[in-house]
Amino acid sequence: MKRKITDSIVYVGADDLTIDLFESQYQVPNGISYNSYIILDDKITIMDTIDKRCTEEWLTNIEETLGNQEPSYLVVSHMEPDHAANIKTLSEKYPTMQVVGNAKTFDMINAFFDIDLTERMVTVKEGDILSLGSHTLQFYMAPMVHWPEVMVTYEVSEKVLFSADGFGKFGALSVEEPWAEEAKRYYYNIVGKYGVQVQMLLKKAAGLDISRICPLHGPVLTENLGYYIDKYNTWSSYIPEDQGVLIAYASIYGNTAAAAEKMAEIMRAQGVRNVLVRDLAREDMAQVVSDAFTYDKLIVASPTYDGGVFPCVDTFLRKLQMKNYQKRKVGFMENGSWAPMAAKKMREAMEGLKEITICEQVVSIKSAMKAANIDEMKKLTEELCM
Ligand code: FEO
Repeated sequence: MKRKITDSIVYVGADDLTIDLFESQYQVPNGISYNSYIILDDKITIMDTIDKRCTEEWLTNIEETLGNQEPSYLVVSHMEPDHAANIKTLSEKYPTMQVVGNAKTFDMINAFFDIDLTERMVTVKEGDILSLGSHTLQFYMAPMVHWPEVMVTYEVSEKVLFSADGFGKFGALSVEEPWAEEAKRYYYNIVGKYGVQVQMLLKKAAGLDISRICPLHGPVLTENLGYYIDKYNTWSSYIPEDQGVLIAYASIYGNTAAAAEKMAEIMRAQGVRNVLVRDLAREDMAQVVSDAFTYDKLIVASPTYDGGVFPCVDTFLRKLQMKNYQKRKVGFMENGSWAPMAAKKMREAMEGLKEITICEQVVSIKSAMKAANIDEMKKLTEELCM
């Protein structure tokens, strides 16, 4: 896909609608876009390459845009292979092209590729400027958003921020869908661990006059940029986006599922709004992680299994740990036919997390819920929400 972003900036990336799992782990029902841009000026500059799954389409886009002209620079914002896979291919195609990156970028290029760029390296650091003619690039380091070598580029004349993974989303560009939900699922699962680093980048961005954000995935953002920046500020601060309760459960024969649904029913009857029930065994785990960050309260319900928690619940709790889940209130429901242990194990998994309040009241079911469990649910509702 090739299209103009401005008179002198052309999109040359590609949609991938056939990938089974992005990063070999994330479901992308609407695909993903790998974005790459060309700045047309005295010194023609290509902003990042793309995934090897779409090399051919990308090279065609470049050839159609440039004709017989040769690019002067390739700027490498991020070395993850969904963006960097074609550095060697492009460098061989255009032997006079210089490659722009920071010191860490070139270490990674040497690690990923068998290629000697010694005479073609333009090494930049924080604040460095590169003139292309009427366009001027300014480089800002963004370590750990999402890898250590990440940098973003601000083009001064057209006020464009090339934001690397930041402000990206799942979903191909050819598919119409709202930005926020898939951008949030992308953010928390891919960049979520690095909220502090995202905050540092947002502080740098606050000093720039930005009219467009060109990310490496998802649409170019052109209007109402404050909305997107506010979302990123909320997400990276680990502040809940809304009040509500996620009840995330697993159930082997349906008894824990029935208890989770009953818990939701009791909460709704008490006037608690936004009560969402998710089955960890069957629903997209990345979506449930995103839901957990959306709301300020969480209940995890698990059968006891091999003396611990059920495997997909264990994975969910581990993912929350990995993504720096914090600043929320949590309650537990367990089931166990002879020795319920899940609540104890879930508590141990979450105790070390920052600013997490764990409810004392536990709903403890022995096989199937009974009247005493309804009582426990009412008390848990009280402690969690009132
Ligand atoms: Fe889209 Fe961190 O790469």
